Amino acid sequence: MASGLREHLVAYFEEHHKLVEAGALRLLLDFPQPLVLSRDVVERAEEDSPFVTEAMVRTAIEERTVSRAARRPVPTSSGPAGAPAEALPDFAVVREGFAGPPPAGPPLAGYSRLFGARFRDLSRLLRGRSTLVNPRSIRDLRGAEGTASVLGMVRQVRETSVSHHTIVTLDDETASLDVLVLKGSPALKVPFVLDEVVGVKLRLGRDRDRLPLVQSIERPDVAVTRNVGRSDRTRRAILLSDLHVGSRAFLAEEWSCLAEFLAGRGQNPELARSIDFAVIAGDLVDGIGIYPRQERDVAISDVVEQYAELGRRLRELPERLTIVAVPGNHDAVSPAEPQPPLPPNLAKPLPPNVRLLANPSTFSLGGVVVAAYHGRGFDDLIPAIPNASYSRPTEVMRRMLQMRHLAPIYGNRTPLAPAVRDGLIIDPVPDIFVTGHLHTYGVDRYRDVLLVNASTWQGETQYQRMRNITPAPCRAAIVDLRSLETLTLDCSSRRAALSGSAA
Ligand SMILES: [Fe+2]
Ligand SMILES: [Fe+2]
Repeated sequence: MASGLREHLVAYFEEHHKLVEAGALRLLLDFPQPLVLSRDVVERAEEDSPFVTEAMVRTAIEERTVSRAARRPVPTSSGPAGAPAEALPDFAVVREGFAGPPPAGPPLAGYSRLFGARFRDLSRLLRGRSTLVNPRSIRDLRGAEGTASVLGMVRQVRETSVSHHTIVTLDDETASLDVLVLKGSPALKVPFVLDEVVGVKLRLGRDRDRLPLVQSIERPDVAVTRNVGRSDRTRRAILLSDLHVGSRAFLAEEWSCLAEFLAGRGQNPELARSIDFAVIAGDLVDGIGIYPRQERDVAISDVVEQYAELGRRLRELPERLTIVAVPGNHDAVSPAEPQPPLPPNLAKPLPPNVRLLANPSTFSLGGVVVAAYHGRGFDDLIPAIPNASYSRPTEVMRRMLQMRHLAPIYGNRTPLAPAVRDGLIIDPVPDIFVTGHLHTYGVDRYRDVLLVNASTWQGETQYQRMRNITPAPCRAAIVDLRSLETLTLDCSSRRAALSGSAA
């Protein structure tokens, strides 16, 4: 494993307010999937004990080995051929958002459990921030004076009619609270998003009728500087999305251009051959019945056949690639997020070098941590964030990182599964964050995280024309895993063109 992992582990524990003892760190690094194990340790650790000991890591290893043996075959970390992930030492699953189907029970209870889990996990990241002085639960705020801080989930945001101040309703586990943000306050620089978790520092007056005044706001966010994971040798990953195989608009000739390039038969064969990994961020096929009258847009009207064709298309890419694929809203799995990986019957025609994971998923490629999310959450965040646009996806991805959440808003376009844990939380912080869904292309950086929205291999459909969506197809980001420097491969003119990216 690459040396960058050590730094990743230390940073991960730090963020969770844990100090990892040297022996414990050694044990973690010796384990084939250290980040996976670290998550186990953090989840089992007692809230108020700051230390991670060797014994804790040993217990986690034992539990993982036992539970592993109990649930063979490991459905998510193995490819369609059933080869365990360890067969590919440079690829390891860190976290899959999907942790099994939601338990049975009334949906309302399920969602309140999900929101409780979200609040618990995200408030843990905010706890202990120096700006959040005198932290209290909302219930314990009663009677307090001076300065105090609370953590809460944003339930409602409204503007006062006369003075245009903002009133935000926050919920924590104990109660709810209205707080006032004055017009023009720096706390409004980043607009609030419903159901995100924030920390606020408040000025409390003696007058009971006056609302607590927000002085500053903290979001979970990612650290300004962070120890980042890097591969110890030059090797690359190519980031793709939204193939939509089976659509009439699938761009077959452009796809062949990509395959030729990767095989080293185009320009820059040396660079092409250094690409060991491909990531596909969902919408592998076009599906059926995804939107009204889609049948007019599909070339293959049977979904099983679409996956068979996907298998043929993926076999056109070099066998040396480890291809990691997550599903999207066009794929034949439950649309509620987090989505499970593609089921074995559909995965069967795919080549053995494909690793199918849930949407979203976090995994490491040669020591570099990648989070892949298809991106349904964009559909709710873009309308909710002033000035956000489908053509500037990385701005919204930045906002996702600030919230440490991919799709917080409940009850709009992104269906959320009422799972026991919130699998849409971004944790650990990735080195590369890749999304799709928008059919546009964008490369940017936020702090130390590389952001890529990975285009599409589908041309414009009638449906998109109707909805005024202009795709930017057939781009792919090629990332050097040693430096995270990125090039853009453009096959849209059916001739591979390479250019440096803006990031
Ligand atoms: Fe798509
Ligand atoms: Fe999509």
